[in-house]
Amino acid sequence: MKDVVKVGIIGGGLMGREAASAFARWFVLENFPVRVQLVAVCDLQDKLLDWFRQVPTVTLLTKNHQELLASPDVDVVYVAVPHNLHEALYLDVLAAGKDLLAEKPFGIDLAAARRIREAAAKSGRFVRCSSEFPFLPGAQRVMDFARSGKLGHLLEVRSCFWHASDLDPTKPVNWKRQVKFCGEIGVMGDLGMHVVHVPLRLGWDPVRTYAQLQKVYTERPDGKGGMAPCDTWDNAMLHCDLEVEGRTVPMRLEMKRLAPGATNTWWIEVLGTDGGARYSTAEPKSLWLFERQKEQRWTRIDLGFQTPFPTITGGIFEPGFPDCFLQMWAAYAAERAGALGQRTGCVTPDEAVRSHEIFAAALESHRTRAAVSLARA
Ligand SMILES: NC(=O)c1ccc[n+]([C@@H]2O[C@H](COP(=O)([O-])OP(=O)(O)OC[C@H]3O[C@@H](n4cnc5c(N)ncnc54)[C@H](O)[C@@H]3O)[C@@H](O)[C@H]2O)c1
Repeated sequence: MKDVVKVGIIGGGLMGREAASAFARWFVLENFPVRVQLVAVCDLQDKLLDWFRQVPTVTLLTKNHQELLASPDVDVVYVAVPHNLHEALYLDVLAAGKDLLAEKPFGIDLAAARRIREAAAKSGRFVRCSSEFPFLPGAQRVMDFARSGKLGHLLEVRSCFWHASDLDPTKPVNWKRQVKFCGEIGVMGDLGMHVVHVPLRLGWDPVRTYAQLQKVYTERPDGKGGMAPCDTWDNAMLHCDLEVEGRTVPMRLEMKRLAPGATNTWWIEVLGTDGGARYSTAEPKSLWLFERQKEQRWTRIDLGFQTPFPTITGGIFEPGFPDCFLQMWAAYAAERAGALGQRTGCVTPDEAVRSHEIFAAALESHRTRAAVSLARA
């Protein structure tokens, strides 16, 4: 009989329900060491609590997160709420003695992220932060290629996450477009963890950044016939320096809500003197590899379903967002159980704090129109 990990969700909106969908098909994972069961959900909205009534294992539905945390039935808590609530709720989860998978950006700002990391370390609980795209087969292959030595000398890195829906000025405002809920870092808080996870995991930690931040629409329809302020950064381009083998290497981190033509496009490109790799969710089956030969040639490899944690899905089929989200949860559960092995793990508290250090430096860089040092003391 496998161990059962009982999960509670605080915040049953977009991502809370995505998590429920991942748990509901946990049995697709083959030879996985633990089972995961959703047992409790907290949200403030009746219609969302009602949605979770269709999950047979859920025995507690509440509007009070302390009630969920008081349940001895809950081992792990997934918190997916607006950023202004991260710190208070994450600290409550840890104080209740539960393990935590925290949604990004792990606190509304750098100070909050540091306090959460400190509380996590003191509590001794298992804490990780969400970032699912690195668990796609294409992203895994880019990481493998980067580690293989086939790049030669690293030339440059681009890691990007692009959205286009905000190009429509009639799109109503929501909490992600307002500083008081989303944070001063704006789009970096929303999309930034997704672009730093792979570089940081590969040891590409910037020593300096020059940031260009853009804000285009300053107000949006409030959904009640009026207009409301929309004061977050829409686009952020961070031109970073890496120090690799004694050389300075450029790395660009791009986070955009105004990216013409991109619905939800996460992509990465790493180039070296001997080889390169490129993968984009816009073409989920395509891995592009460059290997220096006499003639210049990028080769397209048609990917299948080679996820880090094997599933019953046929190896020739194509993966998507729900698949990488399930794989991320599998990585969380495996690492918690001491069974991750050599596979990619979820974002650690140190990596989450580092992402905030990068975003805080970006704000300063934009304010001063100068490059800002990120060198570690
Ligand atoms: N990993 C990803 O790909 C991804 C994608 C989108 C959002 N996110 C992150 O997930 C988090 C939530 O985003 P979302 O898109 O699901 O937002 P959402 O607005 O769809 O859902 C948030 C939910 O939190 C609930 N809530 C608010 N205050 C609460 C409280 N005190 N107690 C319980 N519930 C409360 C709201 O009622 C709402 O249902 C954010 O941190 C966001 O950055 C991650």
